[in-house]
Amino acid sequence: SSYCIIMGGGVGSRFWPFSKEEKPKQFLDFFGTGRSLLQTTFDRFKKIIPPENIFIVTNDAYASLTKEQLPELAENQILLEPIRRNTAPCIAYATYRIKAMNSDANIVVAPADHLVLKEEQFLKDIERGLKFVEQNDVLLTLGIKPSRPETGYGYIQLDKETKEGIHKVKTFTEKPNKELAQAFLDSGEFVWNSGVFLWNVNSILKAFKNYLPDIVNRFDEGAGMFNTSAEKEFINKIFPFCQNISIDYGVLEKADNVYVITGDFGWSDLGTWGSLHEAVERDENNNSNLHCKTVYIESYDNIITMSDDKLVVVQGLEGYIVAESDNALLICKKSEEQRIKHFVTDVKFRF
Ligand code: GDD
Ligand code: MG
Repeated sequence: SSYCIIMGGGVGSRFWPFSKEEKPKQFLDFFGTGRSLLQTTFDRFKKIIPPENIFIVTNDAYASLTKEQLPELAENQILLEPIRRNTAPCIAYATYRIKAMNSDANIVVAPADHLVLKEEQFLKDIERGLKFVEQNDVLLTLGIKPSRPETGYGYIQLDKETKEGIHKVKTFTEKPNKELAQAFLDSGEFVWNSGVFLWNVNSILKAFKNYLPDIVNRFDEGAGMFNTSAEKEFINKIFPFCQNISIDYGVLEKADNVYVITGDFGWSDLGTWGSLHEAVERDENNNSNLHCKTVYIESYDNIITMSDDKLVVVQGLEGYIVAESDNALLICKKSEEQRIKHFVTDVKFRF
């Protein structure tokens, strides 16, 4: 049967100051729907995956937030990491747990912070993907048609198409620089990696063995402890020693059995202010606003977000992010938004 791993342990630092370390974006209700991104992700997957087979992997620090937001989860469906080690160790942990419950599980791995507008189409692609990974020893990802030379994504070069309409992946390049991203976009041969992955538990474990043996060796030592009362202590012991690396750099860039389903399901990685800007309504001058009323005068291509429904009047502003949350304000050029995470580190040192 099918399982789902929701990764929700990131800090969302490129969304500062809306997203903060104490309460990162996956726990926030972006669009005023009454449900946070994490809750929406859970709601989405439980339509096709038994809710008891859905696991959330997050940081110890967010245990109570997660329980509070998803009270329907049993205690053992929330997997807690003592320290942040990026997505490879996160996925390894959940995979070992699931393997202990079902040695032939088919798994979908998803971020907790994505926007999916066409849910029905998305779930159809997931179901199609689950069938494919059940029958083939492959690592499958959902791809998205690219619309801009975004440097925060993985780029997938398409190879031959299978009879199921799924493409083999020729190359996978995580977070290319601007020039490379532009060249990929211009070539028309690439799609973005959505960061949603599907595979059989044995396929991903084999990939971990091949490409991240250091992580596998640590987890193998406690193979008998998963899904027992000894698990948490074991994880706390090994996690700090695990390599800090994402699944994209660690596995997807290296493996030769990667496949992709290219979907069109109204996807946005709410990864940066710019991606949010693209996902929301904009005026004729490409200005957007969130949680506030804005009067734009002679202003173009801006995104403004405020706490408390503030009224904002802007004149002569072009290409800026203005983001306020209760006790902080960010003003940053849209084109420099990838640097926000470094600003946040800097802020931490100073204050
Ligand atoms: N549990 C846990 N622990 N979750 C984590 C950790 C961690 O240490 N680090 C990140 N996550 C979660 C984040 O909360 C997010 O939901 C997901 O894992 C992906 O991490 P990001 O940090 O958001 O990755 P990214 O956006 O830079 O890149 C990935 O997603 C892109 C599309 O959104 C890659 O897969 C790219 O290739 C892809 O294009
Ligand atoms: Mg992301």
